[in-house]
Amino acid sequence: MATNIVLLPGDGIGPEVTAVAKEVLVTVGRQYSLDLNLESHDIGGVAVDRHGVPLPDSTRRACEQADAVFLGAVGGPKWADVPVHNRPEQGLLGLRSALGVFANLRPVELHSELVDLSPLRPERLRGVDMVVVRELTGGIYFGAKKEGDDRAFDACEYTREEIERVTRVACHIAQERGGRLVSVDKANVLATSRLWRNTVSRVCRQEFPNVQLEHLLVDAAAMHLLSRPADFDVILTENMFGDILTDEASMLAGSLGLLPSASLAGLNGPGLYEPIHGSAPDIAGQNIANPVGAILSIAMMLRHSLAAPKPAAAIDQAVVSVLASGARTRDIAAPGEQGLDTDVFGAKVIEALSG
Ligand code: IPM
Ligand code: MG
Repeated sequence: MATNIVLLPGDGIGPEVTAVAKEVLVTVGRQYSLDLNLESHDIGGVAVDRHGVPLPDSTRRACEQADAVFLGAVGGPKWADVPVHNRPEQGLLGLRSALGVFANLRPVELHSELVDLSPLRPERLRGVDMVVVRELTGGIYFGAKKEGDDRAFDACEYTREEIERVTRVACHIAQERGGRLVSVDKANVLATSRLWRNTVSRVCRQEFPNVQLEHLLVDAAAMHLLSRPADFDVILTENMFGDILTDEASMLAGSLGLLPSASLAGLNGPGLYEPIHGSAPDIAGQNIANPVGAILSIAMMLRHSLAAPKPAAAIDQAVVSVLASGARTRDIAAPGEQGLDTDVFGAKVIEALSG
């Protein structure tokens, strides 16, 4: 039976990086005889323009029936005046919620050939290899909101079950890696964080006694990510802290454009795959975006949703070899150098895969 994959190019640089990701997927599909059925749908601003809503029913249904979904990016200034509930970002949040993908895995890995990409000093970066597990369908993103001219609020709410299930995913990942888990919260101020801390502690103690757990407050974690990044193995955190810390962590690798992500309702199964970068409207349509985060998201898709670790490893390897050969898109090019176009960089990855 064919594997159904939905592509959601979205807005800004989304379509450009999706085109490269698709080509990579089709290439490994051919090489490894995967029976893939690809279809594209609208989400985000482009869906607002064409259908009047950021997550049309047809898109949601296709994604719910798919084995895996790839998303480029959503949002942009064009939709700044659209009513809040209809903003492009709501399409993505609605999709995450509809698919129940509560665990967002964001690996941050630094290959030794690539230390020069990061603004941090190389000696700080040696050995950086972590996975951030971000809770994705709860917290302040999904709480009650009120938006007035004089007063506004966003409620942050978590249930014990929501914390338990994402903790289990993080602990399983820690067990397969170095066995160390850092849970990030703001327990000195927030009630949700105190429930978070107590719940994570209990699940770890009762169900994963071999996982070594440490708690960090989010402000300290933001600092430790820069002062001792190589010490981290698995980081577990709630929705908004995870959003912020992974943008920070992307600079360890050198660029926001490099990092992939997988959003899952467990460790494996159907999932949503996206580069962690946004729609970057300032460079959209210029064919200069970095497609690496998108390409590596395809590798994660193969691993977690398609049970195809071999082509996944081949993609990872191809990306590393292309970067190691000195190929750079503009965001990571040396000062004064122009950098390769998105499609040219993509062609190099395809060539490395085929070679
Ligand atoms: C991300 C993005 C999204 C988020 C936006 C586009 C809603 O920043 O995936 O990190 O905040 O989750
Ligand atoms: Mg983000």
